[in-house]
Amino acid sequence: MNPAGLSIMPPLDDAPIVTERLMLRVPEPRDRAALHAMWADPRVMADLGPVKSAAESDAALARHAAYAPLGFRVVELRDGGAAIGFCGLKPGASDTPIAGMLEIGWMLATDYWRQGYAREAAAATLAWGWATRDEPAIVAITAERNAKSRALMARLGMRHDPAMTFDHPAFALDDPRRRTVTYRIDRR
Ligand SMILES: CC(C)(COP(=O)(O)OP(=O)(O)OC[C@H]1O[C@@H](n2cnc3c(N)ncnc32)[C@H](O)[C@@H]1OP(=O)(O)O)[C@@H](O)C(=O)NCCC(=O)NCCS
Repeated sequence: MNPAGLSIMPPLDDAPIVTERLMLRVPEPRDRAALHAMWADPRVMADLGPVKSAAESDAALARHAAYAPLGFRVVELRDGGAAIGFCGLKPGASDTPIAGMLEIGWMLATDYWRQGYAREAAAATLAWGWATRDEPAIVAITAERNAKSRALMARLGMRHDPAMTFDHPAFALDDPRRRTVTYRIDRR
């Protein structure tokens, strides 16, 4: 705020998060194609749900925009500017045991897997969460079988909380992805 009480800087919550190799920024219309390509890739969606149409991708972006100042951000490579993924914080869904809790999540286009980008984006997101939010903990959920995401959770120092394992209502009763695990990290 300046002395007149007027905000002269963009709100801190919207400022890009910059890491060594990445920038995490609020999505813009120019990101739609790259994010839709990611959500239309069966390998990315294998443990998440059905692949998305372009309209469903737009709806996902609108959902995240409505979480502001939370909502996942575009993960952009600082070198070259490619939009490679989507990572951030959102409120836990109301039909799950993490309702209202601060939830972190991530996904990357397959060309960029196994290069440490998700860890870099997620670690910066956790730091942003601790700095800009008051919640005592951040949680993450994923299908029990999603070994890649669970390994990342552990790598970030998140702890599996077996008492918070549940059947995710987004999946059919016989869908193996329905069994969902919860990991948690507490504010230090
Ligand atoms: C999960 C995902 C984001 C990981 O992205 P990534 O950039 O490949 O992950 P990183 O390279 O940063 O790896 C971080 C850690 O995750 C683990 N990990 C990642 N991929 C793994 C794999 N294929 N097998 C085993 N462990 C893996 C490792 O522990 C790794 O730590 P390390 O660097 O010490 O080895 C990516 O695979 C993805 O987008 N998957 C599809 C979407 C999805 O399932 N999202 C999760 C929703 S809850």
